[in-house]
Order: sequence, then structure tokens, then C-alpha cells
Amino acid sequence: MKAFITGANKGIGFGIAQHLGLAGWTIVLGARDEKRAAQAISALESSGVNVAGWVNIELADLTSVKNAAKTLAEQHPDLTLLVNNAGIPGDMGQKSYETDMHHLKETMDVNFFGTYELTQCLIPTLAKNAGRIVNITVPTEVSPYWHPLAYVASKAAQNTMTSIMAMEFAKDNIPVETYSIHPGPTTTDLNGNMDLPGFHTADTVGQKVAEVINDGQCHNGEFIELYPIVDEGA
Ligand SMILES: NC(=O)c1ccc[n+]([C@@H]2O[C@H](COP(=O)([O-])OP(=O)(O)OC[C@H]3O[C@@H](n4cnc5c(N)ncnc54)[C@H](OP(=O)(O)O)[C@@H]3O)[C@@H](O)[C@H]2O)c1
Repeated sequence: MKAFITGANKGIGFGIAQHLGLAGWTIVLGARDEKRAAQAISALESSGVNVAGWVNIELADLTSVKNAAKTLAEQHPDLTLLVNNAGIPGDMGQKSYETDMHHLKETMDVNFFGTYELTQCLIPTLAKNAGRIVNITVPTEVSPYWHPLAYVASKAAQNTMTSIMAMEFAKDNIPVETYSIHPGPTTTDLNGNMDLPGFHTADTVGQKVAEVINDGQCHNGEFIELYPIVDEGA
């Protein structure tokens, strides 16, 4: 059981790496900075996690994504799980009708196009190992409380990718399972470490994501919500 987790150097990705690792998975970290990767590896190893290394991946750069996928296929042909966790919030303060195009494209590049490219490149390896793709996301349905356009649109595209791939994997007999997990409001750098009622820690969320991954059930095509979005103004 070997997992590659993008954005594993901090936040929810680190929590998932830690709890999958403690449950017996060998972890390969995705990160885009050597120092941050080394710090995370050291913390994981000192808590008893078996780390098989890290792979440099910048999701906004498709060449970097392709190189990362090539490295994974060559050095980790036994990969059984891809967790598409890395993501950016965009500028959550921009109104839908004032969002600038550069900003919208940047958010789509990371959360959708880079994530799609990595997923597509790793499908042959994962299919060979009857593996899984787990996508960390937010709901496509727009919440009345919280609805930053660039972020939600990019995750809606990612969720659509998950639903359609799940359907086509089943129809075309490709032995890969894919599903989405919405962690719910989590106190991380992504939201300036917001800590309001209804928020949880990356450690709690990482543990719950690992529990879903390890529950022995098929979740193909599902959208699993760990905690709901809360009214941050309440
Ligand atoms: N926090 C929440 O409330 C919440 C709720 C629902 C869903 N999520 C989702 O959970 C996932 C993790 O979020 P988080 O809250 O843990 O955020 P975070 O603490 O900001 O961590 C984000 C991770 O993604 C990496 N990353 C960012 N941009 C990247 C890029 N262009 N290429 C490669 N890696 C990149 C970061 O690397 P660096 O350290 O190098 O920047 C970091 O490792 C995201 O997909 C997010 O949408 C979060």
C-alpha cells in the first residue's frame, strides 16, 4: 500500500499523510519546495511513518506535473493511491462579478488543469495496481454562506472530473476507483488559520480521511462530506 499525496508538506495533506502512514501506508509526499518537504518528512518519520521519499510537483506548471508523474511511474510502480489534495483558495474576497481573469485562470490551473493532468498521467500505474484516486474538495452546490467564485468553480470542475471518471472507469472496466472527500472547514494556512465554531484541525480531518480510505468499502463516484460548511458570519 503506497500513497502519493499532493500538498503533503502541511495542512490537510500532512494530516492525511500522517494518518495513512500510521495505518500502515508507505507515503510519497508531493511538494514544491525541498526544505518544506524535508521538514515534513522529518516530522512524519519521527512519528513512525514510513516515507518512501518526495516528488517535486508544481501544479500550475504542466511540465512539472508531467515530470512528477514520470518519476512516480518509474520509481514507484507499486503506487496504489493518489490523493489529489494540493489546492489554492484564490482571492476569496473577490465578488463573482469582479473576479479578474488572471486570478480565475490561476485558480483553475492549480485546482483543475494541473490536478487533471496528474490524474490522467497516473491512471496506467494505478490501473495496473487496481488503485484509487481520492480528491479533496468542496461541494459543487453553492453555499449561501460561502461562495468564492474562482475557488468553487475550480473545485466544481474537479468534482465533475471525479464523477465522470468514476462512471467511465466502471463502464470501461478500468480497475481504478475514484471519489471525492469534502473535509469541511479546517483551520489551515488556506484560510488564514481561521478557527470559528464548526472548524476542525488538519489532524482531525486527516484522521477521518484516512478512516474513509481504510474502511474497506468501494466509494467509486461518491462525494463524502466529513463536516458541512458553516456560516462564518454567524
Ligand atoms: N482548509 C479548509 O477549510 C478546506 C476545506 C475544504 C477543502 N479544502 C481543500 O483541502 C486541500 C488542502 O488545503 P489546506 O487547507 O490544507 O491548504 P494549505 O494548508 O494551504 O496547504 C495547501 C498545500 O497545497 C500545496 N500547493 C499549493 N499550491 C500548489 C501548487 N501550485 N502546486 C503544488 N502544490 C501546491 C501547498 O504547498 P506549499 O506549502 O508549497 O504552498 C500545501 O502543501 C485543498 O485542496 C483545499 O481546497 C480545504
